[in-house]
Parts: sequence; structure tokens; C-alpha cells
Amino acid sequence: MKNELNDLTNTEWMISTKSVWLEDESRARIIQDVALRFQEWLKKQEDKDILLERLEQPLPSVLLSTPPQRDDLKIQHPATFAESDIARLILFFTKEGELVLDPFLGSGSTCIAAIGTGRRSIGVELVDKWAGLAQERINRLKYTFQLPLLPDNGNSQQTHLEATVLRGDARVVLKSMETESIDFIVTSPPYWGILNKRADHKVKAERLSKNLPTRYSDQHEDLGNITEYDEFISSIGVVMRECFRLLRPKKYACIIVSDFRHKSRFVAHHTDISREMEKQGYSLEGITILVQNSKSLYPYGIPYAFVSNVHHQYVLVFRKPSVT
Ligand SMILES: C[S@@+](CC[C@H](N)C(=O)[O-])C[C@H]1O[C@@H](n2cnc3c(N)ncnc32)[C@H](O)[C@@H]1O
Repeated sequence: MKNELNDLTNTEWMISTKSVWLEDESRARIIQDVALRFQEWLKKQEDKDILLERLEQPLPSVLLSTPPQRDDLKIQHPATFAESDIARLILFFTKEGELVLDPFLGSGSTCIAAIGTGRRSIGVELVDKWAGLAQERINRLKYTFQLPLLPDNGNSQQTHLEATVLRGDARVVLKSMETESIDFIVTSPPYWGILNKRADHKVKAERLSKNLPTRYSDQHEDLGNITEYDEFISSIGVVMRECFRLLRPKKYACIIVSDFRHKSRFVAHHTDISREMEKQGYSLEGITILVQNSKSLYPYGIPYAFVSNVHHQYVLVFRKPSVT
């Protein structure tokens, strides 16, 4: 097929559609001649030491996600986040022994990260299969337990292992929880209808070929099964409003989401979620980009159009004001 857009090879095309460009990627350099030449030129213009200092500084708004291989249980779930990323957030936003909530628990990653950092946790999950899987992962961890991410200062208590999995619709379950009892909320809401779409290259290669589930459930209460986008966003809002009541004043809630393409439209989902959260009373405090550099590239769009290989997620950081 004739490439009418540019003169790139398929490999170069795929690299160009990756949604984050990292400076140290040698593969990317194939097509970054111009950027490199420009950098060389810049180096000559500025004091070299200052430039190096700037380049070497870790960027606080960008985190590189380097998840370990998912275990045999976790891999069953079609959309998980990495415990290592959540542990970083928990360590930043809470103190040892505080209580963390995830209203969409999935395979239990938040509880695992909380146990690993010596925090108590509660997770809500609608689908029995995933709630059971989360519980199994938590139980498994308890037998082999070491506090891996706490400083060894002799004060850490093994009593901070409490992780509770609550089954049911978050819109109902959260109602029975105590007002202002939670110190930190972290979650990734269900993807809107994305998992119900016809399987693309990625789903075929990474899930169907290995006989792994591709969606959460066919349950009516599963927010991932809502067909209208606006209704989906406001349903996430209903859950997050209840979370707002549970959160202590001045405490934080982090939502991890990515943007996506729906038919011919690219949906800047993180902006819609941010606006909905503001409607529910939270203030947006910042956005951290989580770069998922170990993902595979797929030949989307070749040879017709630009279609992004989305290799990053957003950590949207919200706060509950002191007075509401
Ligand atoms: C993106 S996944 C969360 C994955 C999780 N972060 C992990 O690492 O495993 C969203 C989860 O929300 C659950 N869910 C969907 N609708 C729900 C509802 N109404 N109440 C509670 N959980 C729901 C889905 O079953 C799914 O497991």
C-alpha cells in the first residue's frame, strides 16, 4: 500500500506515533536527527554545565513506570495499574498506618501497595471474580510478608496489614462508610466501553491469543458497560462524590486515567474527568505524566493517518478543601 502521508518506514512511523518521546531511546534517534542537531546547536549557545544540570534533573511532573511482570492472578484482569506506581503515591500522600481507599479495586493492586507501605486499605469491587482475585492476592501476600517499602527504623508495626475488600456497586457500598474516615483515595475508574470494542491488534496479541479475559463483566452496574459517554462520566462523578464525603478535609485523591480514541475522535478523557471532579467539589492540584515505556508499539494508522500509540497515563491529583 502506498504511503501518502510521509516517507517513513513502518518502524519509523510506529516510533513517531508513540505518545511520549524519551531522549535516551536509541531507536528513536533514527528519526531524531533534526532534534539532535538542534540540541548540539543549543549546547554551543549556552553554558554547557548549566545545560547538563538541566537535562539531568529528574522532572517531577513525569514518572517512569517500570512495573514488574504481572503474576498469574493479576494478569487475569484486563486493566490493572502497577503496585510500584501506587506505592509511590501512597508514600507521598499518607503516613504509616493511615487509611487508603480504592472505589474500583479490580485485582487488588491498591491494597497490595498499601500493605507494602504499611498502610491500611479498603477496596470496593463490583465483580465477584475480581473481588475474589483481589482477596486471593492479599491472602497470598500475607503469608510471605515483609514490609518491603518501609524504612527499617524499628518502629514499623505489622498491625498495619489490614486490607478489606468490599463487594458490590461502589455507588451503594460507599454509602455505608463513615464520613471523613479516609486519608487518601487512589483509583483507576473503569474504561468507558473501550474494553467492549472489537479486538484490535493489541487485544489480539496480548489477551485473546493467551485466552485471557478482555472485559470486566457483562453486569448492568458495571460502569464500563454504560454506552453514553456523558452518562459514564457523571456515573464516575456519583462515586467520586461519595468518596468526597469519606475523605478527610485537606486530604488528596489521585485518579489514574489515559486518553483514548473512539471511532474517529480522540477523547481527552483526563480533561473530562478533571472537570467532573471539580463539579464534585475537589480542586485539581496538578497532573503527573506516568510514562509506560515498556509497552509494545502497534502499527496503528499505517499508511494513512496519525493514530497515537498511547504510552502514558495521567495521575490527576485532587484535594478536598479544608471547608466544604
Ligand atoms: C480499571 S479497573 C481497576 C483495576 C485496578 N486498578 C487494578 O490494578 O487491578 C476498574 C474496575 O472497576 C470495577 N467496576 C466497574 N463498575 C463498578 C461499580 N459500579 N462499582 C465498583 N466497581 C466497579 C470493574 O469491575 C474493574 O475491575
